[in-house]
Amino acid sequence: MSITLLSSPLQGFTDFRFRNAVNQYFGGIDTFYAPYIRLNGKFKIKPAYERDLLVKNNTVKELIPQIMTNSADEFLFVAKYVQSLGYKELNWNLGCPYPMVTKRGMGSGLICETEKINNILDRVHSESDILVSMKMRLGYENPEEILNALPILDNYPLKNIAIHARLGKQLYKGGVDLEGFQKALDKTKHLLYYNGDITSVESFNKVREQFPSVTHFMIGRGLIADPFLPSMIKNNTNEYPENHLETFSKFHDTIYHDYKDYLSGDKHALLKMNSFWEYFATTFDNPQKTFKKIKKSKSIAAYEDAVREILSHR
Ligand SMILES: Cc1cc2nc3c(=O)[nH]c(=O)nc-3n(C[C@H](O)[C@H](O)[C@H](O)COP(=O)(O)O)c2cc1C
Repeated sequence: MSITLLSSPLQGFTDFRFRNAVNQYFGGIDTFYAPYIRLNGKFKIKPAYERDLLVKNNTVKELIPQIMTNSADEFLFVAKYVQSLGYKELNWNLGCPYPMVTKRGMGSGLICETEKINNILDRVHSESDILVSMKMRLGYENPEEILNALPILDNYPLKNIAIHARLGKQLYKGGVDLEGFQKALDKTKHLLYYNGDITSVESFNKVREQFPSVTHFMIGRGLIADPFLPSMIKNNTNEYPENHLETFSKFHDTIYHDYKDYLSGDKHALLKMNSFWEYFATTFDNPQKTFKKIKKSKSIAAYEDAVREILSHR
């Protein structure tokens, strides 16, 4: 059975510059999700969201926009907007774990509010022809929450439900709950995508073996840490391609120059690259030492030297 790999969105990382460069240099990802759009009560799309979604800025095969909201009006407004750009699907984020979001009944804080979910899906499906998919955690407080929500979701023609197999209250700590994911599989008629802690070919093979019926897997942090991972998963190999440092170097230079051109001031570009290197460094021999080299680079020249040094002996 062939598998589909999807790039799970990370706000602040997986924008169009990153997605295009990953697609160009590494391949292996079939579908990319854009980080969520959040309106915050104002019915206006911020220019940064628009830039990220404009078809002319995106060179990947398939891109799916995402929304985080607990309002049917906001959902319908964003659905209309993404349709105007040419998209057919809108993914609904019920996964975000941060208290600022969950306390307002959004992200994973909405999973337990089954009536609200039902009302929003009901209005969206009666007032729009957008295709809806969901991205959820197993719950905020406990994994029973998703089991209560799934029978309601069965009533709607959702494209799929992607599940990050953790609870909201865990944030990103602790392990994934594979038993909880299995219970969700048993309880829904919908197609479930697996998401959570796929960081290597081994960890992928483990979830693949545990859930033989699952064909779609989303990779978030693992893709940023090692953009070779999706194609290595597809080829079922631990071997990097021969020219992998050269390829990574080209990828790095592409996103680095894009951010340098876009962000005002060297400081912002360095901060941005710092946050990427927190992930990149984990796949180098001495991750802490590698990241330290980047972190202490306070000028563009020092940063470029540090990168060259790191990439000359991975
Ligand atoms: C910094 C950061 C930003 C994220 N932004 C989003 C987002 O915009 N939308 C979303 O659905 N998930 C978001 N996530 C969650 C990831 O997409 C993913 O579900 C999670 O990290 C688990 O998958 P992984 O273990 O493969 O990273 C974010 C995660 C992190 C760490």
